[in-house]
Amino acid sequence: MFFSKSSKKIDRSERILPEHVGIIMDGNGRWAKKRGMPRQAGHRVGAENFRKITRYCNSIGIKYLTVYAFSTENWKRPKEEVDALMSLFYDYLVEALRDFREENIRTRFIGDVTAFAPELQRLIKETEELSADKTGMCLNIAMNYGGRDELVRAVQMIAKDVTDGKLSAEDVTAELISSQLYTAGQPDPDLIIRPSGEYRTSNFLLWQSAYSEYVFMDDILWPDFTTENLEEALDEYAKRNRRFGGV
Ligand code: IPE
Ligand code: IPE
Ligand code: MG
Repeated sequence: MFFSKSSKKIDRSERILPEHVGIIMDGNGRWAKKRGMPRQAGHRVGAENFRKITRYCNSIGIKYLTVYAFSTENWKRPKEEVDALMSLFYDYLVEALRDFREENIRTRFIGDVTAFAPELQRLIKETEELSADKTGMCLNIAMNYGGRDELVRAVQMIAKDVTDGKLSAEDVTAELISSQLYTAGQPDPDLIIRPSGEYRTSNFLLWQSAYSEYVFMDDILWPDFTTENLEEALDEYAKRNRRFGGV
């Protein structure tokens, strides 16, 4: 992990929690490879872990959680792996629809879901509708999500309004752009966590992460990521001094 220089001990009962946490759920393939298993097996364990970590975040009072599940670039993977991921998403949503009745989590999907099979799209819609009136944590699942793709869409929508005479070029502001993103109306992520030892964003929340705190954890792969690893990232976040360009 990239630790802050401060070695101060954090009192978890008094710690400032991020309102919005992003997680790049990376390392499933390597986790499986290390065990001589097919990459798909890592995705399955990773999906189970996602459920555990999501519940935990809700239980400790995180207000927004955005998880990166499938990027616009992940279609490049072998068909076998993409198919396995699609069937996992399908299974997850069937289970989620069953479990959601008891859980106070509102689920939304960010990304271009129209690329998915009609049956998966139907489940996505149903999941969003069924959980829409929940009052607990808001969970954004990023599927077929890419930060650049999201910005291209936003620019296209704005350009259309300018062409139609509804807007002038001077009306284009940072707030207007934010309002055209999948995350419109939500706060920007305060903390973004990436396990697995890769120190990059891989196209996750490009616009929204302008002032996010990153915690890269290099000694853990997503399927092994525990609630204690999450707590460590939250401790690290609490030590950071956020200035947003000020002093
Ligand atoms: C993340 O794990 C899950 C997805 C991208 C769908 P990876 O599949 O990227 O696992 P590694 O990085 O190859 O280990
Ligand atoms: C980012 O991980 C996407 C998800 C975790 C869903 P990747 O494994 O696709 O990213 P790269 O290829 O290492 O940058
Ligand atoms: Mg990866």
